[in-house]
Amino acid sequence: MDEKNVDLGEQREWDARYADLSQLWSGRPNATLISEATSLNPGRVLDVGCGEGADALWLSEQGWQVTALDVSKVALDRAESEAAARGQHVTWLHAGLLEAGIEPGSFDLVSAQYPALARTAGDLAEHALLDAVAPGGTLLVVHHPRATTDEAAKHGFDPDDYVSPANVRALLDATLAAHPGDWVIELDETRPRHVASGAGAHHTEDIVLRARRLA
Ligand SMILES: C[S@@+](CC[C@H](N)C(=O)[O-])C[C@H]1O[C@@H](n2cnc3c(N)ncnc32)[C@H](O)[C@@H]1O
Repeated sequence: MDEKNVDLGEQREWDARYADLSQLWSGRPNATLISEATSLNPGRVLDVGCGEGADALWLSEQGWQVTALDVSKVALDRAESEAAARGQHVTWLHAGLLEAGIEPGSFDLVSAQYPALARTAGDLAEHALLDAVAPGGTLLVVHHPRATTDEAAKHGFDPDDYVSPANVRALLDATLAAHPGDWVIELDETRPRHVASGAGAHHTEDIVLRARRLA
């Protein structure tokens, strides 16, 4: 596993959440990733906030060359063990998106499935997602619909503190206004979600943003 700088506060928070259970998520790849990535030609993919690695392993099994990053060492250790058990090769990167030092334009697919990326002045995470995509490549951001004030208060977070597909869309729109030919937004929709087990099973809808970088 490769190591970069990690925000220790973020790592502690997520490590504690993962360590509470022997498995936090369903163990299955996200249905939206499968439906959106199946038609793409496998190349280099970055899985941002890969968690326990189900998406990264599925992508690897489809022939993608996978780099998967997360701030949680507990989650990555699980992902790495599962990869070894299946004989799959994935480059696991213990890093936050902003600290990972991703080479601009270096991935044919950047997939962020329910990422918990902190919003910053200057929209650094949104820029990092767009910048990582190679010309001709695809950006896929999937998230739960915005939590209501009551839900957010119950779980002790402010939805405005985290990057949403709408934030990424806003940066794409601004980029397109300045450089109209650089991207095409292929999809920005809400669709039903059915997940039977794991901590995310209560969510019933996905917001799906897919854009292709042309230049
Ligand atoms: C809701 S989970 C989603 C995990 C996985 N993508 C999935 O669909 O099962 C959000 C993930 O984002 C990770 N994360 C939090 N802050 C991050 C950051 N700055 N950079 C990368 N990953 C981060 C967490 O550790 C966690 O694994």
